[in-house]
Amino acid sequence: MRVVLSIGGSSINPEGKPDIEFLRKMAKMLKESKHEFGIVTGGGSIARAYANAARELGAGEYDADSIAIVSTKQNAHIVIAALGGAAHPNVPATFEQARTAFDGHKAVVMGGTIPGITTDSDSALLAEAIGAKRLVNISNVEGIFDSDPRKNPNAKKFATLSYDQLIALAAESDKRTAGTHFVFDMLACKLIARSKIETHFVSCRNMKDIAEAIEGKKHGGTVVR
Ligand code: UTP
Repeated sequence: MRVVLSIGGSSINPEGKPDIEFLRKMAKMLKESKHEFGIVTGGGSIARAYANAARELGAGEYDADSIAIVSTKQNAHIVIAALGGAAHPNVPATFEQARTAFDGHKAVVMGGTIPGITTDSDSALLAEAIGAKRLVNISNVEGIFDSDPRKNPNAKKFATLSYDQLIALAAESDKRTAGTHFVFDMLACKLIARSKIETHFVSCRNMKDIAEAIEGKKHGGTVVR
């Protein structure tokens, strides 16, 4: 079975450099799995730093996004390095390229694609393109909460949500001020809803949760179905 993993830049590169331990553990788990993986890597703080620097230097939003995409691709290359021969050695630029890249490989790893979207949407589109019915979103938060857990210590985590509930939460979050951002962007929410892609939200700090999510089993994060 094909499973898509969306690995946030903050998981790959939490403090300005790649987290070798995390990458080793992920690679070991994926290589031992019976599944095939379409993987999308985010850009994290490095992408944001470069996009902001470009804006300060006068670049427009299209070019700021294009620079950020380079960071997502750099992270794709480091995941490929961790996976060794199990992954296709190239980072596909499009979903069409991604779906022909399995070709005997267990994993295909890509970064961002076009300006104006995020790797949340890329991962949902990749799932549609390669026919994956399960998506695992790995980030530095443990799931989806009813309010921001970094600001509200009483925030409640959802164990399960329907697609409509997820879309309602994303819409609610859109109304908040700049700088707050929902775990999964609206386009991505709508894409997983239209294709009924079971989507799991788990923390990069909990390998057991990641492994359970890949199998579609119960875990400590949130599942949307
Ligand atoms: P993400 O925002 O998806 O990476 O991409 P992240 O920060 O690792 O994700 P989260 O926060 O953990 O979910 C980084 C930036 O790259 C550009 C956007 O500027 C985005 O904010 N990008 C990414 C694109 O323009 N297009 C893409 O397809 C992907």
